[in-house]
Amino acid sequence: MNRFKRPVVIAGNWKMYKTNEEAVEFVEDLIPLIEAASSTVYLAVPYTAISLVASQCLGTKIILGAQNMNDHREGAFTGEISGSMLKQAGAQFVILGHSERRQLFHETNEFVNRKVKMALEIGLKPIVCIGETSAEREDGHTIKVLTSQLKHSLAGLNEEQMAQVMLAYEPIWAIGTQQAAMPSVAEEIHFFCRRYLANQYGTGTAEKVLILYGGSVKPDNAGLLLEQNNVDGFLIGTASLSVDSFGEIVNLSKGPLKTKT
Ligand code: 13P
Repeated sequence: MNRFKRPVVIAGNWKMYKTNEEAVEFVEDLIPLIEAASSTVYLAVPYTAISLVASQCLGTKIILGAQNMNDHREGAFTGEISGSMLKQAGAQFVILGHSERRQLFHETNEFVNRKVKMALEIGLKPIVCIGETSAEREDGHTIKVLTSQLKHSLAGLNEEQMAQVMLAYEPIWAIGTQQAAMPSVAEEIHFFCRRYLANQYGTGTAEKVLILYGGSVKPDNAGLLLEQNNVDGFLIGTASLSVDSFGEIVNLSKGPLKTKT
């Protein structure tokens, strides 16, 4: 693949952690810590904290987002939240198809696909998560599973829409296990994803799409992972809950954009 410059994105996914008070305190502490970083910082906070934290983040390098949304514009869907509600509250992106949503709430690729389309319509940047279980990896089905997730979660998008999407490769065996993928494994899969995108949407689009890695990213393993050509940043769970560890990872990337080959 041609040399291409992509920005580095460090995204935090707080999952179901942090009250409003904790969220505000975290962001207050984080802002001065990451002033010199060259990466873009994404923070997916609980719905309840979005509007509060959005005003805090104005004029900073933090881009705020949500962890899920419904696939409808509005309607009688008790307990659900729409993309336009999130956008109006201050979200600029949304995580879709996280493995916890897929496994615990039975979200299918088709459901994720409808949400991706709705998010794009509304103007929220989707971060689409894919990843295999340890059993699927052990059985040699990783590429088959990922291909199916990519094909069906991204079905019907044109090149322009695809260029708005970010992918997150989050192997389920690495989430919350302290066992991040080896840098070479992450690179192999990210390279596969980029080749898939190149085949489907053309090389130009494939080179624009950021592919984040997620699963037990910590300050001590983030550096080597980030050195991989096709690892454009991270989607971080546990380590995004502490200002120190999250700030440390964000600050790994200082200076000009990383040059990719
Ligand atoms: P951990 O960083 O806790 O492994 O979680 C990863 C994740 O699920 C981010 O979306």
